[in-house]
Amino acid sequence: MLSVWLHFPGLTESVIAAACSRVGQSVLHLDRRTYYAGNWASFTFNGLLSWIEDYKNQEEVNSTESEQVWRSLMEEGEDVLPLSSVDSSISNIEVYCYASEEEEKEEETQPSATRSEAVSEETNEASTEAQDTAITDGSTQTIQTQSGEDEMSEPIQEQHDISDASQSQEEKEQHPISSPADPPVEVKKKITYQTLLKEGRRFNIDLVSKLMYSRGALVDLLIKSNVSRYAEFKNIGRILTCRNEKVEPVPCSRADVFASKQLTVVEKRMLMKFLTFCLDFEQHPEEYQDHSEKPFRDFLKIKKLTENLQDFVLHSIAIVTQKTLTEVGLKATQHFLRCLGRYGNTPFLFPLYGLGEIPQCFCRMCAVFGGIYCLRHSVQCLVVDKASDK
Ligand SMILES: *[C@@H]1O[C@H](CO)[C@@H](O)[C@H](O)[C@H]1NC(C)=O
Ligand SMILES: *[C@@H]1O[C@H](CO)[C@@H](O)[C@H](O)[C@H]1NC(C)=O
Repeated sequence: MLSVWLHFPGLTESVIAAACSRVGQSVLHLDRRTYYAGNWASFTFNGLLSWIEDYKNQEEVNSTESEQVWRSLMEEGEDVLPLSSVDSSISNIEVYCYASEEEEKEEETQPSATRSEAVSEETNEASTEAQDTAITDGSTQTIQTQSGEDEMSEPIQEQHDISDASQSQEEKEQHPISSPADPPVEVKKKITYQTLLKEGRRFNIDLVSKLMYSRGALVDLLIKSNVSRYAEFKNIGRILTCRNEKVEPVPCSRADVFASKQLTVVEKRMLMKFLTFCLDFEQHPEEYQDHSEKPFRDFLKIKKLTENLQDFVLHSIAIVTQKTLTEVGLKATQHFLRCLGRYGNTPFLFPLYGLGEIPQCFCRMCAVFGGIYCLRHSVQCLVVDKASDK
């Protein structure tokens, strides 16, 4: 039996804890914080604000006094390894507010029935724009699925359990955010800071914003380990990209490509031909071998894709940089295409209540197999036996 103990547990530590526990080792998981998932956690808006406060204050904690206490408890033949209580991976936190900090107007603070009357036609237009912008500036990772006006947008997709079992109703109700069955949120013309505070429980913010490829290694691990049973997942409804200061949908399927308003007929054919080639590019080495060590971007030019299409493929489909080499770019494009359709019309999955669910689910698996969890407990030092070094 081997004990595993982890400092500042995040995703990696949670996966290790689950794996150790699963094979019968004893695991003690200590976390000085009040929440799981460490720097991978997801918060409501208010939760995020308290997290920011905590980190702003962490440097001010003076550990000298407590250090004197535990040092005095050491016995003959023991050595100590002090552990820092400061998480040095996060520093220089500053808060900027881009939303209006004005007070809301009187009528906007009314209950939603009154509020929806106040929303005029022009407001509706403006609000769609506001939503799209929120996606492209990177601050909101959860791509909205409720717009409905645009013919590119899909109806809200069914939630996906990526394995067979699903979370119990009781657990779902513990989550602070609204369920997708709730009526769409009324979007007001101007989103003020006050609005964000008030509606702060209706969305989650991930400290680490990532999406999972539906045929990626993490999804495979979640299924293989049965950890997927502890969470619910959603497929991203659609992908938008910002080009020439305009927000445009990225065509993900054959139907999308042909329905696209951004592409000309010639471009549509060109793109379909190129994507079809990418699906099994390894079978056609003569097409790319001479370029495999050169930038993908140049390869796209050589393939005579229009600039429009080069941008689409590079930034929105392969999602690589200007310097990425051709073979890597082709693989990335292929991966994107292979992920399509597994759970929906885009290649990306996300946990319904934020990425913080993932480490938490691994913790749960660890606990199911006997791991012990203590939040709000920090470790100040490790005691080492001088003679054996253990
Ligand atoms: C921490 O406490 C010690 C003794 O209590 C004191 O000498 C030291 O100046 C303090 N440091 C800070 C940064 O407050
Ligand atoms: C996952 O669940 C299946 C069926 O309940 C079980 O046979 C398998 O051993 C489980 N895998 C792990 C890693 O726990």
